[in-house]
Formats: sequence, structure tokens, C-alpha cells
Amino acid sequence: MHLKTIKQLRNLSGKTVLVRVDFNVPIKRKKVLDNTRLLASLPTIKYLTEKKAKVILITHVGRPAGKVVASLKVNPIVEELSGLLKKKIKKLETGSWPSSAKATADKMRLKLLKDVEGLKPGQVAMMENIRFSSDEKNNTGTLSQELANLVDYFVLDGFAVAHRDSASVTGVAEYVPAYAGLLLESEIKGLSKVTTKPKKPFVVVIGGIKTETKIPVIKNLLPKTDNVLVSGGIFNTYLKAKGYKVGASLVDKNYEKEVLKYCKSRKVILPTDVIVGTMDGKHFRPVKLLKKPHQVCKKNEAILDMGPETIHLFAKYIKKAQTLVWNGAMGYFEQKPYDIGTLSIARLVASRSKGKAFGVIGGGETLQSMDLVGMSEHVDLISTGGGAMLEFLSGKELPGIKAVTKK
Ligand code: 3PG
Repeated sequence: MHLKTIKQLRNLSGKTVLVRVDFNVPIKRKKVLDNTRLLASLPTIKYLTEKKAKVILITHVGRPAGKVVASLKVNPIVEELSGLLKKKIKKLETGSWPSSAKATADKMRLKLLKDVEGLKPGQVAMMENIRFSSDEKNNTGTLSQELANLVDYFVLDGFAVAHRDSASVTGVAEYVPAYAGLLLESEIKGLSKVTTKPKKPFVVVIGGIKTETKIPVIKNLLPKTDNVLVSGGIFNTYLKAKGYKVGASLVDKNYEKEVLKYCKSRKVILPTDVIVGTMDGKHFRPVKLLKKPHQVCKKNEAILDMGPETIHLFAKYIKKAQTLVWNGAMGYFEQKPYDIGTLSIARLVASRSKGKAFGVIGGGETLQSMDLVGMSEHVDLISTGGGAMLEFLSGKELPGIKAVTKK
């Protein structure tokens, strides 16, 4: 893969650069709750402004489906980013342009042109949530061309959105020279280290509940790994498929066959005990899993964490790894005492990373739990992408990456 990166761009002074970031962050009462994704794109923004480019940032927030939704406006992001960059960011109002009524769209277009022309070298501006426009998702070419007409270059920095074939991700790249930002470049480099030449032993830890996104990862990485440690919803599905009685546990009935197929591999290590209980965490108990299917939960109980014996078992593999990838919670970690499995894995992965193993983590819950144990700084690569990281690890070609790769 030969990426075109912003480091190859000469003479950026006075050039207008559209940077597609992924600032799809949680916002509550007009405040950004987690600024990790903003911090991750700072190096690209600073690089471009130091070279005196005029920088226009563009992002989506949530899934407003082509409508203006007040709570999903980018204003809190503009404010937070201004603080981080220590400079004022100009907000560019676009509403649902260009998919709004013609007169409104024309007015917006003129205003936008004037605002962009007025930008000074080194200045940063930010457009409104691009998903307010239905052209973003449809990617018919209208929005891409309008965006391209405003700028000299396009930069994709948001790895987390690289799996979306949208106007502001892949569309613009068809009309204006496109490059990868520093964040996109570093995430691709880190993840490629894992998928192409992982140092052995290579151990993957997989949890979470979205079985359909995890199975392709197991399938693609199984031949390259030494072991895959599985817990969470995929494991519940496995138990159910084997005939264990799992009560109210979360299972994915559509994937029972595939889960059985991949979990049969000698390389896949499964829990030997679980914690079952009620969702409120008031009643819970450990259950050892026997080889022969049996009743694990009563009707009102669910499997909500892996047990202590399993933590000990998984630790043995993690402590020997030279390459480590972790995605997905081991249980219902939002509710005590079911956080023990997930937080233990977080501590183990972080302790083994940086120096001993090349450690990579990704996904919302995974990052959140690493944050809870306060050990994020010890991990080699914290991927900002959840879905994008899983697709990359599944061996799929991400359309955003393709758009900034030399043909
Ligand atoms: C994410 O948060 O994973 C990305 O921003 C992609 O968001 P989407 O799934 O709404 O496209």
C-alpha cells in the first residue's frame, strides 16, 4: 500500500485544505464529553497551519440522516478545539446545503465562498455537521464537487470514518488531489504491523456483543495468530449453540453456526468459568463450565462477566505475547461487579504493551475501560476507529484509504 501523505505536499502556504476529521464525539449539555478524537487530529491540524495553509475541518456527528438536529451541531466541538489549539476557529454555517431548497442552497453557497475566501493563511475553520446534508451519505457527486470547488487539496485524517463511502470521505477525493493526514497514516502503519508481520506469539483478545463485526476479524486473523481469547457476547452465543442453558444472556442467534465453526479451532481459548447474575449487580455468582452442556443461568439470570479462573487463564497468554490486539468488553463492565474481567484485561494488556509486546486496542468500550484503569499511555496504538478498525483487521479494503493511495 503506497499512501499519499501530507508530508509529500510542497508549498502549502496560502493553499486551502479541506481536512476530513472524525470528531464524532459524545456531546452533553453543549459540552464535549470525550476529546480523544480531537486530540488525535491535532498533529495534522498543527502541521498544516504551521505551513501556513488555510484549514477547513469537516466532520459528522451522530446519524442525523440528512436533517438539521440542534443537539448534533458542531458548536461545542468548535469551542473545545479552539481551547486545545489555543486559537479561535471560524464556524462555517452550511445547514443542510447543498440538499436544502435551491434558494437557501444558493445563499449558503455564496456565503460559504465569501467566508472561505476571507480565510487567512494559518487560520482554521470548521463546517457544520456534514450529515445534515443528505448528499453526504448518498454520495452522488453534488456535495463532493461543491466541497472540491472550495479548496486546493483534500486530506483524510479521520481513520474512524475511513470505512464509509461518503461524499466528504471518498467523494471529494475524485475532484481534488487527496492525501492522508498524520493520524490516518499512523493508524494504518500500526494496524498493518499487526496484519502483515506480527511478532510471535501474536495474541488477539475479542469481546463485545456485535458478533457480526467480530467473526470476520477472527476469520481473517486466525491463520496469523497464535491464540484468540474470546469472551463477551460471542462466547454466550457459543455456549447457547452448544446446548448450554444461558437464561437471559445476550446471544446472537444469527451467528451460532459461524461462532461454533471458528471457536472449534485449537487456537481459540474460551472461558472456563463465568459470572452469572442479575443486571442490577445485586445477585451474582461464579459458575464453572463443564465439558458437557448444562444449566449455566436460571431464567432471570444472564452471563455478565468471565470468572476468576478465566482471568488467570487469559493472563498466561497475554503475558507471553509479542503482539497484542484487544477489541471489545469481556462482560457488562458498566455495572459493578461485572467490570472485573474487562478491567483485568485492560491492566494486563497495558502492562504487557510498550516494549514487551506491540499492543493495539480499539473500540468505544475498550478505550473507555482502558481509561477507567488509567493506563492508556502504556498502550502502543489506541485506534480511534471502532468499526473501521474491525473492518481493517477483517482484511477489507477501506474506501477512504483507497482514496488516498497511489493508483
Ligand atoms: C464511529 O464513531 O465509529 C465513526 O464516527 C463512524 O460513525 P458511523 O458508524 O455513524 O458511520
